[in-house]
This record gives sequence, C-alpha cells and structure tokens, in this order.
Amino acid sequence: MITTGQKIAIERTKASRLPQTDLDNIKFGRVFSDHMFVMDYADGAWHKPRIEAFADLRMSPASLVLHYSQTIFEGLKAYRNVNGGINLIRPQSNIERMNHSARRLCMPQIPEDMFLDALVELVRQDQDWIPKDEDAALYIRPFMFASDEYIGVRPSDGYRFIIFTCPVRGYYSEPVRVKVETKYSRAFPGGTGETKCGGNYAAALYPAKLGQDQGYHQLVWTDGLSHKYIEESGTMNVFFNVDGTLITPALDGTILRGITRDSIIRIAKDEGIRVEERQVSVEEIEVAARNGRLRSAFGAGTAATIAHINTIAINDEVYELPDVSTRKLANQIGSKLDDIRRGRVADPYGWVVPVA
Ligand code: COI
Repeated sequence: MITTGQKIAIERTKASRLPQTDLDNIKFGRVFSDHMFVMDYADGAWHKPRIEAFADLRMSPASLVLHYSQTIFEGLKAYRNVNGGINLIRPQSNIERMNHSARRLCMPQIPEDMFLDALVELVRQDQDWIPKDEDAALYIRPFMFASDEYIGVRPSDGYRFIIFTCPVRGYYSEPVRVKVETKYSRAFPGGTGETKCGGNYAAALYPAKLGQDQGYHQLVWTDGLSHKYIEESGTMNVFFNVDGTLITPALDGTILRGITRDSIIRIAKDEGIRVEERQVSVEEIEVAARNGRLRSAFGAGTAATIAHINTIAINDEVYELPDVSTRKLANQIGSKLDDIRRGRVADPYGWVVPVA
C-alpha cells in the first residue's frame, strides 16, 4: 500500500446550507453537501490533505484539463444502516479502479490509505446530509484533474484531487428505454473504454442526444469494430435475463469494470442463479426478444443502482419487455444487495465499511 502518513486538516464551514435544504425533494446531482476533501500533487508528492467548505474552484484558463481532458472520476455511495450508523460500500474497489484509471491517463496514484481516510472523514463530517429514507443515499464523487498552466500536449506535473458528496435518490425515476447503437462507438480495443475518464463521457454525448431525440433515455453501446457485440450502456453495465439465465458482456478492456456489476454477479451466483459473462451478440438478444425468451433486462451502476429496462430498440425494431412487477430475478438480487447495504443481513463479502 502506498502511504503518505499525512493528517487531514479539517476546517468546517461557518455557514451550513443544510437548514435551507429540503432533503425530501432533491434531484440527482443538483444538491451538494457542505464540505469537500482537497489534496494537491506537486513535485512528485501529494500535499495538504484537507476538508474545507464546498466552494467554486479558481483555475487558469490555460489549465491542461480544460484543453486535453486529463481527468478521471469515481462514484460510490454511503447508506444509512438499520442501526442508525452509516455504511460505505466497497470503497476499496473504487480506490483500486481510480488508480487503474490514473495509470492509463498518466496521472499519479492516490495513496490508498489516504483515499479511504478521506472518504470516511468527509462522510462523517457531512453525515447529517444523508436523507433518512430507504430510497436515498449519499453519492460520493472523487475526481482528479491536471492543473498545470500550459498549452502544449503532455501529462501535467500538477494535479488536484477532490471528493465531494450529494444527497441523492434514484438516477432514473422510471424504467428506462434504450436503443442499441450500431453506428457510433464509445470505445475500441486499446482505447480508454474501461477507465472512468471524462473524455469517454464527452464523446458519448452526441450519439446519446440523437437517441434521446428519438425518445430513448440511453444507448446500449456495441463494440467499436464490428458493432455486433453488446458492451454497456452510457451510465451503467447491462444484464439480460434470457430464459432465467443472467447474461452480461465480459470485461474485455473496452467495458467499464462496474462494481455494482460485480456485486450483482457475486450475489446472483450465491442465490443459485445461472450467470454467463461472455461475448453477447446483438443478434442473440434480438432473437431472444422476438421469441419472448428475453424475460427482462436491466442496467447496473452506482448512480443508477438497478435500472429496469422496459423498452429496447434493436435495428429499427422496438421490443417492449414484460411489466416491471414481474421482474423477479433483478428484484431478488436488488433486495439482497440493499439488505447488505443497510445492514439488515450480515455481509458475507466484506463489502461494508462502517463510518464510525
Ligand atoms: C456512477 O454510476 O457512479 C457513474 O459514475 C455514472 C455517472 C456518469 C452518473
């Protein structure tokens, strides 16, 4: 483990925004808690880890990130548990994935112990921002960006690492309509598909907008070479229930290594559900949808949690999937995952990190 051994300096805001915030009426990603964690990288080391008031950043218009997108991020959640405490879920997996993204983007590694301390301390400082009800959580957004003032193309020497949090409910307020995309590409072998870098999301906006103009919430991306194989959706990994078997595209370097995806696979296997992680062709999903063998489909992600798909468009054909209430398999896995997050059952996987 890389370690800095540095203590986090904490300066609490003198003007909390919580009294003016209606936690019962929040839109995803619009409301930000009082504090943020900040740490700077210069001269080959991380400096000044601190928690301070959530505030705007000052930066030079020549900051490298604004031009060449050297920026990465993560998403995880903290949940209120049944004993009144708070649980972080699998933070170690997010820390490892962020450092994996950092390597691909020529960015420095974040010391794992400092990262975990920062997550726990920030959530502790803003614990009153976590809504009490069952469908809510605190979304945590760590990110890092290149901060050098320079307009030549090269990796930055300086970086800033920030974590802020938002009280949230569901990302999607209804079952989602998706369209399988076979013209534009999100990723290709050797690219950055499996990293959580800002550029992946920017490049997806235009095709996604074309889909939204046709009434779809999201695209389901296909491989960039042949467009014959399903990869993932814009904000989540995808799962298909074909005749009771849960099928999901295998991780091949172009698909995000979803942590919720991994949790779902682990739970499904332990619940005795047959799971196949493999290449999934558009054709087989289309045939299964046409023959009524595609019983359900859903997306999985930290923000989206388990998002039921009710409509899937493939090659100009639109398939309506069975009613949400009949989606037993996804609901069974989803309840198990929720029970672990909320501490209603013992956590057999070691995923829960309590915020003391
Ligand atoms: C998440 O699920 O945490 C994500 O990062 C998806 C995001 C683009 C909303």
